[in-house]
Amino acid sequence: MNETGVQLTKIKRQLKEHSRIRPLMDNDAGAGLLNPYAQTKVGSDAIFAWWARYKEAIATGADAVNGTIGALLEDDGSLAINAVVDEAVRKAPPVEIAAYAPLKGLPAFLDLAKTLALGDRRSDLEAMGISTTATASAGGSGALYLAANNFANRGDHVLLRDRHWGPYKGFLSGCDLKTLTYPLLPTYDSPHPYLDLQGFKEQLSVLCTSQDKVMMWINDPAHNPTGLSLTPGGRMAMLEAVMESASVNENVGHTLLLDVAYHLYADEPHGWAETLYEAMNEGWPWPENLLITFALSLSKSHTMYGLRTGALVSLHPDETVTERIDTVMGVTGRQTWSAAPRVSQYTVSEMHASDEGGAAWSKERDRLQALLVERRSALIKACDELNVPLNPTHDGFFAWLEHENPSAIAEACAEQHVYLVPLTGGVRIGLCAVPIEQIPKVAQALANALE
Ligand SMILES: Cc1ncc(COP(=O)(O)O)c(C=O)c1O
Repeated sequence: MNETGVQLTKIKRQLKEHSRIRPLMDNDAGAGLLNPYAQTKVGSDAIFAWWARYKEAIATGADAVNGTIGALLEDDGSLAINAVVDEAVRKAPPVEIAAYAPLKGLPAFLDLAKTLALGDRRSDLEAMGISTTATASAGGSGALYLAANNFANRGDHVLLRDRHWGPYKGFLSGCDLKTLTYPLLPTYDSPHPYLDLQGFKEQLSVLCTSQDKVMMWINDPAHNPTGLSLTPGGRMAMLEAVMESASVNENVGHTLLLDVAYHLYADEPHGWAETLYEAMNEGWPWPENLLITFALSLSKSHTMYGLRTGALVSLHPDETVTERIDTVMGVTGRQTWSAAPRVSQYTVSEMHASDEGGAAWSKERDRLQALLVERRSALIKACDELNVPLNPTHDGFFAWLEHENPSAIAEACAEQHVYLVPLTGGVRIGLCAVPIEQIPKVAQALANALE
């Protein structure tokens, strides 16, 4: 056989080999390459799938309504942008764009992050002896990851409400954590209509019997996916329950994480700091085994979705504890994304450093918030008139219809060219994306779907 013949035989053999392997691999592509955890990752994101359906409908010329995505859109469908932030980013000096940020974040940004989390009560809390630390992160998601990675023991459960942002599961399971949930709303007579305090306490005590660290995540105010915000009484009751549990279970570390991704669009943006201040002012002792931490995101508040900027801001009375947390979070960030983007940290710190800059940002924020307030009020009113049992909804980007068959409701709405997102336990209505004139159509579609 000449050289060409040898080559041909080799190729034929390889092809035969390949055809033997292919059928085996097709069912489970990459199984020999991906580890078992990686193989559990499936790319079926309901939000993007339903957004794609909306876009298909538009492409066919339908007058479709987009209630799918989680970004604030103007009434003309374009992305709402805080013009003051945009202008400031564009004015950043080249070196602030090109250089790395310090690994834990720019000092001025870390200072700002504490103020964004705590508002005017920051100085009062610090004066009362509460020590704070902040680490810059790749968005609010990065802050959630820092917490998942460090505040719970591998294999343990993290306590969540039963309605929560879908990616929580991924951040947690990536750190080998499971979830335990309690109902979003009480089904009994309660002075706190937006908190199932009994459910929360029961699950907290279950975890305290089996774990030496308990982490609780709550997305408040302006909960995704419902738009729910706790009342001052609800916040206080929850804090009291956590403090009480920490005092009784002194060998169990308690971390209460407040995911404040939407707080700057809420009626009471710094309600949690206010609640903490009131509790301290009344002389509640802060147990040593309790940490309060805020997962801050600038994605929405500063319309910096793509600039991936946020922070984890932690509070504890013992400075040595916050210093240790500072180190641990800095190292985790380093090992995950290195440093968070510099230009956004620089821009917002400069902007909020002057009264005029802060006021200009606020004015734009108020304009964007007004879009949400108007859409929410219109939806509540229209649903009321049509007897659509919309869940209580107060602030932020979303509203929610609780339903045992969310897919059927979303499909029935889609038939009327209204695109919403079916999630566990209900349908998410992305008020952030729906133009005001289309809100009545959303309520009508829900009413028809429920018939
Ligand atoms: C509830 C909740 N938490 C946190 C985030 C984190 O946002 P990002 O990582 O974009 O800052 C989001 C974003 O959609 C969210 O909805």
